[in-house]
Amino acid sequence: MPTLIDGHGRVIDYLRVSVTDRCDLRCTYCLPKAFKGFEEPANWLTHPEMARLVGRFVAMGVRKVRLTGGEPLLRRGVCDLAASLRAMPGLQDLSVSTNATRLSSMAVPLRQAGVDRLNISLDSLDESCMARITGRDCLGEVLEGIAAASAAGFRPIKLNMVVQAGVNDHEIEAMVTFARQHGLVLRLIEPMPVGATGRSAEGRDLTALGEMLARRMGLLPQVLGQGAGPARYWREPHSGMSLGVITPMSQHFCEACNRVRLGVDGTLYLCLGQNDQMPLGRLLRAGADDGELDAAILAALARKPLRHEFNERPEKIVRFMAQTGG
Ligand code: 5AD
Ligand code: SF4
Repeated sequence: MPTLIDGHGRVIDYLRVSVTDRCDLRCTYCLPKAFKGFEEPANWLTHPEMARLVGRFVAMGVRKVRLTGGEPLLRRGVCDLAASLRAMPGLQDLSVSTNATRLSSMAVPLRQAGVDRLNISLDSLDESCMARITGRDCLGEVLEGIAAASAAGFRPIKLNMVVQAGVNDHEIEAMVTFARQHGLVLRLIEPMPVGATGRSAEGRDLTALGEMLARRMGLLPQVLGQGAGPARYWREPHSGMSLGVITPMSQHFCEACNRVRLGVDGTLYLCLGQNDQMPLGRLLRAGADDGELDAAILAALARKPLRHEFNERPEKIVRFMAQTGG
């Protein structure tokens, strides 16, 4: 099987695809309330165009694909796109990151389309706190969506909680209890200074907090295989509940980076925290054949940056998370 290797010797086997930059929420650390900079629909790749680009990556060594946004479930026909990707020989894992507002009706169709795993954003279990963070009173829909995903048979379901000091950090223990009760994996995430919104969020050091929680709750470190991604996990021996931390700020994990990102217009982003990119969508629309696309992908990967500079240069990234694909 072919393998994709970047200029620093890292195996790149994971592609995240933003299928839309639109979102029905406006999380304070992600999208500005009155955001006007969405991509022109004329530049959105069609599903066949997306599938063609993803197909090149899979042919060259990508094994795992995640559909993200914005909110991917807003993209019309996303289940058909998922099914067409799932049918690609060589693809081993297809997942979706969603805010779950539409999941109650879409969990079963996504499962039928062959989606293997779901990550769900949930920052709070308190209605008003959730409304303050997301800009909309949506907790009820999201909880229904989580229940529907579980009933549809998705395992594991990972909850992503972006921890903000003084906003929702007092809810971590309640979230742990919720995850335990519902058989979910909980991941605590440090906000990254991506866009003005990301920079306005105040995080906490989750390297330290995770260790403290693990000690207090009697959790055991969980050792995962290679390619397990950036989270570090602990496990509760009896319930089997997993708690993870994603610590881009307090302890970066760039040396193990295994991923690149495709924007809705086919722009390939080589790092969340750098501006290096390759306009694969434009090349495709200019009539590039497979050989030319493959060459552009290899040239881009050769110059994938070594690491982000969120701590040293937090002002660097002006695009918002929903544009790059979270
Ligand atoms: N920092 C960290 N994570 C972010 N997300 C969005 N913006 C940020 C940010 N500034 C993540 C959230 C959400 C996913 C779509 O993107 O975890 O779950
Ligand atoms: Fe939408 Fe996710 Fe950004 Fe919230 S974090 S505004 S749900 S894309």
